[in-house]
Parts: sequence; C-alpha cells; structure tokens
Amino acid sequence: MKIAVIGTGYVGLVTGTCLAETGNNVTCVDIVEEKVQKMKEGVMPIYEPGLDILFHRNIEQGRLKFTTNLAEAIKDAVIIFLALPTPPGGDGRADLSFVLGAAKDIAGIIDHYKVIVTKSTVPVGTADKVKAVFKEHTSVEVDVVSNPEFLREGVAVDDFMKPDRVVVGTSSEKAKALMEELYAPYVRSGNPIIFMDERSSELTKYAANSFLATKITFMNEVANLCELVGADVDMVRKGVGSDARIGKRFLFPGIGYGGSCFPKDVQALALSAEEYNYDFKILKSVMDVNQVQKIKIIEKMISYYKGDLKGKKFALWGLAFKPETDDIREAPALYIIDELLKAGAEIVAYDPEAMDNVERLLGDKISFADNPYDALQGADALIIATEWQLFRNPDYELMEQNLKYKVIFDGRNLYDLQKMIDLGYYYNSIGRKI
Ligand code: UGA
Repeated sequence: MKIAVIGTGYVGLVTGTCLAETGNNVTCVDIVEEKVQKMKEGVMPIYEPGLDILFHRNIEQGRLKFTTNLAEAIKDAVIIFLALPTPPGGDGRADLSFVLGAAKDIAGIIDHYKVIVTKSTVPVGTADKVKAVFKEHTSVEVDVVSNPEFLREGVAVDDFMKPDRVVVGTSSEKAKALMEELYAPYVRSGNPIIFMDERSSELTKYAANSFLATKITFMNEVANLCELVGADVDMVRKGVGSDARIGKRFLFPGIGYGGSCFPKDVQALALSAEEYNYDFKILKSVMDVNQVQKIKIIEKMISYYKGDLKGKKFALWGLAFKPETDDIREAPALYIIDELLKAGAEIVAYDPEAMDNVERLLGDKISFADNPYDALQGADALIIATEWQLFRNPDYELMEQNLKYKVIFDGRNLYDLQKMIDLGYYYNSIGRKI
C-alpha cells in the first residue's frame, strides 16, 4: 500500500518505518529541511532501540522515503497518517493547530479519495473537526479515521510490530477495510483490531494513558504509606499484582511518572471533562500526587542532611524520563536537579543517552561524567533517577572507593535492601525500610 506519514516526530518515524517493514511504500513528510536531509542520508533523529536496523533497511530497499514536499508525498498515497504534535496550549488543552493546519494543506492538494488517519493523541471530537476542515476546503471524498498509537518509548518497535490491540475509530466501511488490510500483518498472533466510532477511539487513548498513570500513582501512594507503617512496597507490589484482575505491570513505585505523554494526557483528559461540566476528580488527585512524588526524594534528603544541602556534591545516575531513551521531557530528574540547585548543591550527572539533551537545556549548571563511577568521585551521596540496566549490577567496590560517604537515595528501588545494609550503606529507597 502507498502511505504518507505527516510529521517525523517520535510516533511518525516509528509508524512510517514499521509500516515500510511489512512491505508498504511509505513517504514521511516534515517541514524541517535539515532533519529531512539527514534522514535521507540515513541519520536517525532519535534514539530508539531496534529502530535503526529497520530504518536503514527500508531506506536502502526504497520503501521508506523522506521529503519536505507534501504534494509529492500524498499524490499516490491511499492512507495519510497525521502524526503531528499536539502540545498543551496556554490553557493546558491540546493545541490542534498542527493537525488542523495539515488537514487544510492536504485538502488543498488532493484530487481523489484518501483515508486521513489521526495518529497523534487528540481530544474527543478532533476527527469531526478534521472532517469539517476537509468539507470546507475540498469536494474530494475523504474518510477521517482515528487510530491512536499505544507504543512506549524504548520498546516502540516491539509495541508497533506486535501490538496488544489496534484501535480504529471510523464510521466508513471503505476505510475500515483498508485499515484492516494495513494492520493484518501486525495482529497475526490473534490480538484484535478493535473497530469503533471515532469519539470512542479518541477517548480510548486518553483513558488508557490516564488509567496507567493512575495505577502508578496509586502504587506511589501505597509506597509512601509503606514507609510510614514499616511495610515493604516490593512485597506489597508482588502480592497485589499477582491478582490477574490487577496485573503485575505498571505497579512500580518511583519518583513520579514523566515523559511526553502521561503528564500531558492526564491533564488534557481532566480539562476535556471540564468542558462537558464533568469533574474528573480522580485525575486531579493523580496530577497533585505526581507533582509531590517527583520531589519527595528531596524531602528525604533535606531530612537526612538536617535542612542543609548547600555545598553538598551529589552524583546523579539517570536523566532520561525512563531507560532506553534520550527523552528528557517531564523527566523527574529535571525536577530533582532544579530543587538541588535551588538548595545550593552541586550535581555531577551520568546518563547513557540523555546527557546531550540535558546539557542543551541546562548548560553548565550541572556537570557531566564520562561514566557512572566518575560521577561518584568525592560525592556526598548518589541519587538514582532512571532505572537503566547498567546501574542494576554496579561494581560495588568502585562505588565505595569513589563515593565520599556511603549514602544512596534510590528513586527506582534498584538494589536489594539487605545487601545494601550488609555493605554498610545508608540506603534510602521508595516504600522500603531505611
Ligand atoms: C506511554 C504509554 O505507556 C504508551 O502506551 C503510550 O503509547 C505512550 O505513553 C504515548 O501516549 O505515546 P511512554 O511515555 O513512552 O508510554 O512510557 P511509559 O513506559 O509508559 O512510562 C511513563 C512514565 O511512567 C515513566 O516516567 C516511567 O518511569 C513511569 N512508570 C512506568 C513508573 O513510574 N512505574 C511503572 O510501573 C511504569
């Protein structure tokens, strides 16, 4: 099938590449000339494990192309994916100007039937707004489909190639058949393509992300309570998660959820509800709790250092909002850095992928080490903010040699509690005894 993908951000690039991988001819469009030129030369603009192999293979075999020319990209395409940003606007609501602007541009060019698919996370009613744009600007027949993406950064290729489900919102039989044909190779294991109306599909995406954010937040509160009552959240998590109705996944407590999706989507759903005069109370609590959770580790540090962090030097392991990505959007590490700098502390950070992004953002406000152990040199304590595999089984001898004091504040519960006690550490983690 001939496909066009408008927008080569995270979702667009993964979608385009993975669609090419199953034999489709995909042209990705972006307005940033330099980015497009680099992608044409085979330079991947993001870090995503496993994507580079597919990216290079499909470019070489001529199934994956890049252009800044919208007309050229959509000329022969049967399906056009809109994978454009929907950032929170000034009022916190999703800003649809990129999506609706692209719809208008496409409407001005097309001369025969197309399926227009919204892949970005868009509020309920967006498909109707996109339809209205087409109605206003062209007489050519189009079907507008909502097809939200559920992939996670870091495991995006696997999530796209083997999705738990594909959700397709459309009221058109013609579009339904085309989407079914397109996604058939990805659901061969028997996972469903769930067809529904556009509004239900749009809401499914927000509800899924908000539910997951709620699940994490609930466990963060349980962890906080564990600390007060002397329970161990790792045990509670296992006990609770073994109930199939609850499930083991997304129950890991930590320093709050971050990234480009959960914070934005929870807020957008709460605001959408408000528009319909519905007070989505649980989401407001989720946002409040998460805000506090991000800097709870600082409260623990302030208490340990009796209010005085000034002049202390801290090693920070992990900057990305989660492992296997260089993405630092809404990363809890940034909130921790901010609080520590305000308190007059010094920070030496190490992250396998995200240091360049943080350096661009913060300049020389913090320093960066070449490896995790250099970051520990002379540090008063180690803070762990991202659960990179690399940190899970460290060289404990080197760790001890380099740290000034054997103190760890672990926001991701990486180490066995008893082991750290036996090694003589003051080890403060989440929801476990000190
Ligand atoms: C999330 C969803 O998981 C995807 O299904 C969705 O497609 C995506 O948003 C999106 O809307 O585009 P992502 O933001 O890449 O994916 O990352 P997650 O793995 O969901 O992690 C989000 C945050 O939750 C991270 O800060 C992570 O550290 C935190 N988290 C996750 C926990 O604190 N505990 C957990 O048990 C799981």
